[in-house]
Amino acid sequence: MEELRKVAEVDLWEGENPAPRDWILERVVDADGILVTLVDRVDRELIDRAKRLKVISTYSVGYDHIDVAYAKSKGITVTHTPEVLTEATADLIFGLILAVARRIVEGDRLIREGNWNKPWSPEFMLGKEVHGSTLGIVGMGRIGRSVARRAKAFDMRVIYYSRRKHEEVDYEYVDLDTLLRESDFVVLTVDLNPETYHLMDYEKLSKMKRTAFLINASRGAVVKEDDLVRALKEGLIAGAALDVFEREPIGKDHPLAQLPNVVLTPHIGSATRETREKMAEVAVRNLILALEGRKPLYEVP
Ligand code: DGY
Repeated sequence: MEELRKVAEVDLWEGENPAPRDWILERVVDADGILVTLVDRVDRELIDRAKRLKVISTYSVGYDHIDVAYAKSKGITVTHTPEVLTEATADLIFGLILAVARRIVEGDRLIREGNWNKPWSPEFMLGKEVHGSTLGIVGMGRIGRSVARRAKAFDMRVIYYSRRKHEEVDYEYVDLDTLLRESDFVVLTVDLNPETYHLMDYEKLSKMKRTAFLINASRGAVVKEDDLVRALKEGLIAGAALDVFEREPIGKDHPLAQLPNVVLTPHIGSATRETREKMAEVAVRNLILALEGRKPLYEVP
């Protein structure tokens, strides 16, 4: 805020996130720039009201909440905060892999609910080994690569699928069907866009091994949630670990929350103090640079 106030008059929503839509629609009329988060929908209605707007800076790497094409057609620059959250998000993804495969959350729940009432035995709470297994990464961007690096330390075989082969990385490029057929862990690290919307539906889920796990910390709508629930109930896959959902927040009555072989976290991929501070710095820097007519650190392509 200090940085912003040096260069602009700032109208700040001081209540809880998200700011009410009406408040934003009213304030945006006179704004040269706006700084939003992923829960603020920046659509045609908003952009049409913002006649002076030069820059939309989002405090997130994802920008599916912004009508980027429309903003650009109006000459508005759109910026985001990649890179600074890559490692934190990859850490969480690895945590999800370990948690679901080794039944860490289930074990914790069992003890807290007072149900650990038998002594150690050879077949109690068996999980799946992470080291030495095959990790299939869908999307080989920054976060995908960071996850792959961690996987190497676990002696995993890493295969990936993305729109194109990335010559600069030394992992096996396969088509999506092969990835689904061969992976023990399918990790989604793609953006949400019309191509990836409901990418993982019933048909795709049924191509996975029955012993495999689905991990998603990208955007909820990359997975068709109803189909995932069905696949889990039918035992088509062994489990899932999810940080994102089609409609957030979800409550304890959500169908996914009824399934024991699912680990759920509340969209916390980048939620470390260090990373959130860096995201704030980048979002502010982007905004100021674009307002000054200079090149922002990260413009949405
Ligand atoms: C993002 O940045 O898009 C994440 O979902 C939250 O940090």
